[in-house]
Amino acid sequence: MTSSSVSNDPVRFAFGANWSRFIECVDERRIKAAEESLIEMTRNADAISGRTFLDAGSGSGLFSLAASRLGAARVHSFDYDANSVATTAEIKRRFMPANAAWTVERGDILNRDYVTSLGKWDVVYSWGVLHHTGRMWEAIANACDLVADGGRQIGRERSLRGGGEDEDRRHRLKYAFHTQPPFDP
Ligand SMILES: C[S@@+](CC[C@H](N)C(=O)[O-])C[C@H]1O[C@@H](n2cnc3c(N)ncnc32)[C@H](O)[C@@H]1O
Repeated sequence: MTSSSVSNDPVRFAFGANWSRFIECVDERRIKAAEESLIEMTRNADAISGRTFLDAGSGSGLFSLAASRLGAARVHSFDYDANSVATTAEIKRRFMPANAAWTVERGDILNRDYVTSLGKWDVVYSWGVLHHTGRMWEAIANACDLVADGGRQIGRERSLRGGGEDEDRRHRLKYAFHTQPPFDP
C-alpha cells in the first residue's frame, strides 16, 4: 500500500514495540484462548468457519491467527502501526506460513479510499482500535461500511468521554457492536 493510505498523525501511541515483545509469549495456550474468545464473542462455534474475516487494527495478529485456525475462508489484517504490521506478519510466518488466504498490510481505518478498496467482510473485528484513532465516530462509520449484509462487527471501545473510566457506557457500546447489524449464522 502507499503512504497516502495512511494518515499522518504524530500523536499516536506506538503499539508496535509492545507487540514485538508480546510475540515471544504467543504459544498454543494463548492461541486457544483467542479462539475461544472469538467463539464466545460471536456466540457461535461456526461463526468464523468459511467466512471472511477482516482484522482492522490487528496489533499482534493473534486474533487473525485464531480466525485462520477456526477456518475463516479469507483473513485480512491491517494496522496503522508499521511495527504492529511486522508483528502480525511474524505471527503468520511462525504459525501459519502456508495460508495464502491470509494477507497482512499497513492500512488506516480513517482512510476512506483504503477502506473502500477492502470491499465487504462477513466479520469485521476491530477490538480496542477505533477509539485510538483520535476520530472515533469516523472510524466506527468506516468499520460499519466494511460489514457485508448479514455480517457482523466485533469491537469494543473505551469510554466515549475523555478521562474517566465509564464502565456502563463502555459495556453498552460493546454490546451495540456485537449486535449490529443482525447476524444469522
Ligand atoms: C489496543 S490495540 C488492539 C489490537 C488488536 N485488535 C487486539 O485486540 O489485540 C490497538 C491497535 O489499533 C491500531 N490502530 C490505531 N489507529 C489505527 C488506525 N487509524 N487504523 C488502523 N489501526 C489503528 C494500533 O496500531 C494498535 O495496534
